Amino acid sequence: MTSIFPKEAKIISFINMKGGVGKTTLTKDLGYFLATQRNYKILFIDLDPQSNLTQSFFRKFGYHQENLLDIVDIEAEDDSILEVSSYTSGKKTIGSDISIQKLFKPGVISHLKKDDCLLKLNEYISIIPGTLKAIFSERNSNIENHLFNYINQTKLKEDFDFIFIDCPPTYSNYTISALITSDYFITPSKPDAYSVLGIEMLHEVVKRVKEEHQVYFTNKSLKSLGVIFTELAPYSKGYSDQVHEIKTSSKIQELNIHFFENHFVYNSYIPKRAEYFISDSSSSTKNDLIVLTDEFERRFSEIE
Ligand SMILES: Nc1ncnc2c1ncn2[C@@H]1O[C@H](COP(=O)(O)OP(=O)(O)OP(=O)(O)O)[C@@H](O)[C@H]1O
Ligand SMILES: [Mg+2]
Repeated sequence: MTSIFPKEAKIISFINMKGGVGKTTLTKDLGYFLATQRNYKILFIDLDPQSNLTQSFFRKFGYHQENLLDIVDIEAEDDSILEVSSYTSGKKTIGSDISIQKLFKPGVISHLKKDDCLLKLNEYISIIPGTLKAIFSERNSNIENHLFNYINQTKLKEDFDFIFIDCPPTYSNYTISALITSDYFITPSKPDAYSVLGIEMLHEVVKRVKEEHQVYFTNKSLKSLGVIFTELAPYSKGYSDQVHEIKTSSKIQELNIHFFENHFVYNSYIPKRAEYFISDSSSSTKNDLIVLTDEFERRFSEIE
């Protein structure tokens, strides 16, 4: 049944200025679960020049990015990048120009169509792939509105239920463009001694972006959906004390931050294989992902 109202995707940035806290993995597993188990249409946008999210989906769906080998030479010391070069035979190849890179070049983008940047992997999952070439793109504030404009001019919000943006751990053109485009943000965070500072810093950044780019926030707001704790190591004693300490710290209380009750729990397969997705496994972490996804869905009715 089609609705008479055009649907509007909710755009969510997964962001924390701190590196290695599980942003990419949470984006990918939560989004993939929503697509495969709940029939939502999801667009993933890989804004991180490391393009780990893209590599995971490409391995899963058997894609290979052309021209990657040239870049592999440059990055030859990085094992993860070298491995990608073995994905040459018997795989679907796409022109590496279908990517986010077109949106991070100076100049006009009004001619760009959906298919110039977006790759449909199946009925429910699409991706705007990152590319390692993006490493070389220059700092330039004139490109910050390109992602926002591209989504509007191609009416992408009508095609999806959720648009998930995986952000790099930096304050850069990439993060600014993600935030001005998003309706919400989620903060994956490790419950360690530095996370209060990281969460506080991120909220400062969001405040600043809103102040400096007011025009993008006249018809929408950029709301915090909350912090999701990520367990990147086997459960250790003292973990829940640490979580409690963070939640009750005076700085966090002042900011009135919401914390998800459920965590993104530790799964020993995740660090081993980029093409591993929790939803396709029979591990017990799939049940944990179900309750986290339920909570994610509930958040929208709580917050609106
Ligand atoms: N639930 C989990 N269980 C076990 N390992 C995990 C889990 N989530 C993430 N990891 C591992 O932790 C590491 C960091 O995760 P990830 O790359 O998702 O972080 P990130 O915040 O996106 O990093 P970056 O800031 O570099 O983009 C990776 O090796 C990943 O495989
Ligand atoms: Mg990442």
